[in-house]
Amino acid sequence: MNVSLIQNSDKLKYDIEIILMFKKEFEKSSCKEKKLLKELNFKAQDEEVVFLPESKKIFIGCEENNYESLAIAMSAAVKKFQTTQFKTAYIKLCKEEEQSLKAFTQGAILGSYTFTKYKKEEKKVEQELILVASNELKELSALFNEAVIVANSVNKTRDFVNTTPDDFYPKIMAKEAKKIAKVNELEYAVYGDKYLKKNKMMSMYSVGRASRHESKLIHLTYKPKDAKKKVVLIGKGLTYDSGGLSLKPSDFMVTMKSDKSGGCAVLNIIEAASQLKLPIEIHAIVGAVENMIGGDAFKPDDVLKAKNGKTIEVRNTDAEGRLVLADCLCYAQDEIQDIDYIFDYATLTGASVVGVGEYTTSIMGNSQMLKCHAVQSAINAGEYATSLPFNRFLRKTIKSEIADVCNIANTRYGGAITAGLFLDHFVYEQNKDKWLHFDIAGPAYVEKAWGYNPHGASGAGVRMSIELLKDLIQH
Ligand code: BES
Ligand code: ZN
Ligand code: ZN
Repeated sequence: MNVSLIQNSDKLKYDIEIILMFKKEFEKSSCKEKKLLKELNFKAQDEEVVFLPESKKIFIGCEENNYESLAIAMSAAVKKFQTTQFKTAYIKLCKEEEQSLKAFTQGAILGSYTFTKYKKEEKKVEQELILVASNELKELSALFNEAVIVANSVNKTRDFVNTTPDDFYPKIMAKEAKKIAKVNELEYAVYGDKYLKKNKMMSMYSVGRASRHESKLIHLTYKPKDAKKKVVLIGKGLTYDSGGLSLKPSDFMVTMKSDKSGGCAVLNIIEAASQLKLPIEIHAIVGAVENMIGGDAFKPDDVLKAKNGKTIEVRNTDAEGRLVLADCLCYAQDEIQDIDYIFDYATLTGASVVGVGEYTTSIMGNSQMLKCHAVQSAINAGEYATSLPFNRFLRKTIKSEIADVCNIANTRYGGAITAGLFLDHFVYEQNKDKWLHFDIAGPAYVEKAWGYNPHGASGAGVRMSIELLKDLIQH
């Protein structure tokens, strides 16, 4: 869906009018369709939408005047609009224009997303949504452009993640990264198995060993001249996670193409940040790997040595994301000096989904303040997130009798946190308080549509990170 912003005038041309009706105001409303709407049982609730073909109006309900309610309403409207052949629709911004502008823009772009790569082609009309402002456009235009850039990045992340493992393996991920680098003039580097072995990144290397697709370590850099901060973003890019020799049961294997969501998010965050010209040096590092079975697979009982020299006892090959991230964390801290913040994004544990539900990201780290900051940014950006606490007792559960650390805990409980604590072993002393771990296993991929999110990939992590980065410039 194309979305544009214009200032109100008498010459407005459009096919359909979209009208937002707040639940509280519906009763007092004097609109001429009120009687008909009531007969149709319209109550102006969230997600309610009615199309009146004769007057060519789409009415949408809205219960609260906040980003989420407005974006969900807009999403419902464009979905209805998409079922028609009409070309243009318009909607007036609400009184507080800035707030409704972001919600309408993103609600429309995120809500109209469809993934049709594997469907027999059906010709669709190119449709346009026009947002109509009553005030001058000056400042609104900048906000609008930002909202569009971020929403498009979310949709691109969704496209990457939804693509099947046979069409999106490590080499393809590197190719997509290269495309992003070229278009946005970013620095680009990619390394294969030879580099991993030469640089003693045996933890990451071993996970990909049984796959017919070579592992790729991807590194993009955005270096603006006016950089005020240096931030490293690391993404888990498991293009498929079969579980390895600790094979997943079939029901759990389905959807594991989504195990690259962290890596896909990171590539699109750096692209959006560069398009927004944020004054931050950003490094996006992705461990793109496929976790498979075969004669050359790594095994439970193996002891792997990571880049920082720490040894890891493997007791479950399905806890592979942390093995890949361990080496990526080391690589980042060895190669990049004076880091201000280091964030990793991963569909790391089913335990996170059990703990906080499908829609919420779990945020972990050693700095209480930084965690709070990130949670607030996520909420401001329209994503759900909460922080999970580390503690010394859970820390003990990943001790190993034979190596420096074990890749699974000796307790059934707190799996999201023990995974975070494992990663902490690979965060260097000087960076302990600069690091955050985002477990996006829940929201990255949900098999039923929710709000303005479709079935499948949601693009989790993108909006919250742009919000957080913007905030960190000031700190
Ligand atoms: N990729 C999975 C985690 C996951 C589960 C993501 C469900 C999205 C939805 C990860 O590699 C994994 O398999 N983790 C194991 C760890 C366990 C063996 C300690 C898990 O969560 O079961
Ligand atoms: Zn796994
Ligand atoms: Zn995984």
